[in-house]
Amino acid sequence: MRRPMVAGNWKMHGTRASVAELINGLRHLALPSGVDVAVFPPCLYINQVIDGLKGKSISVGAQNSAVESMQGALTGEIAPSQLVDAGCSLVLVGRQAGGSGVLGGPAERGGSRGGGHGVRNRKFAAAQACGLIPVLCVGETLEQREAGKTLEVVGRQLGSIIEELGVGAFANAVIAYEPVWAIGTGLTATPQQAQDVHKAIREQLAAENSEVARGVRLLYGGSVKAANAVELFGMPDIDGGLIGGASLNADEFGAICRAAGN
Ligand code: PGA
Repeated sequence: MRRPMVAGNWKMHGTRASVAELINGLRHLALPSGVDVAVFPPCLYINQVIDGLKGKSISVGAQNSAVESMQGALTGEIAPSQLVDAGCSLVLVGRQAGGSGVLGGPAERGGSRGGGHGVRNRKFAAAQACGLIPVLCVGETLEQREAGKTLEVVGRQLGSIIEELGVGAFANAVIAYEPVWAIGTGLTATPQQAQDVHKAIREQLAAENSEVARGVRLLYGGSVKAANAVELFGMPDIDGGLIGGASLNADEFGAICRAAGN
């Protein structure tokens, strides 16, 4: 059985004061023991969150990391090894830090528009080389969905990592399906729409390695709230969620975590 996971992506939200308040709210949550819970604060607040959540079983991750594993002369970047040093265990890959609704920054955007996935794949590999668990975000735009290209686009985004790093890379990674049109928009994929894509992702992995496919956790992201979480998480290939807006409210986030434990 795959252990469900619920992760909160705080994006570019927070101040020292509001982060302290959110930490306090998280500390008081009754979390289900069978669910892995994680948060991705802005980098500036990672230390504060790690200190504040000591003793609480909530993992902390970063929203972005550099293409090189080790520290070096890269201005404005943060090395995966530095994130490990700070106490992080996860990192989002394929998301533009700070953006709300764009998968991949300008340099990362690609597969969906015909370009390469070089930078994204390097970030994935560099993170894994340091022992971080990459959470790979994939998803289609509304235009692509309406053109009937969802599975093709997501398949390409995933396929590029399989090709470059091998399917074994997913033995120690998480995949988040986040339809771009559902991120921060209030629109949610229906449980069936999400399940269809999750199933296709698992089948794509299974074609290479059935054990990896069975074990990998596939999260759904895009306007998940306590009100729709139970139904989404009830689908056979949805193993939890990557939560944006709703993760900024500790009680709402706690309710979503409990939905994953049902
Ligand atoms: P949202 O964001 O829940 O605010 O739609 C999801 C995400 O970007 O991970």
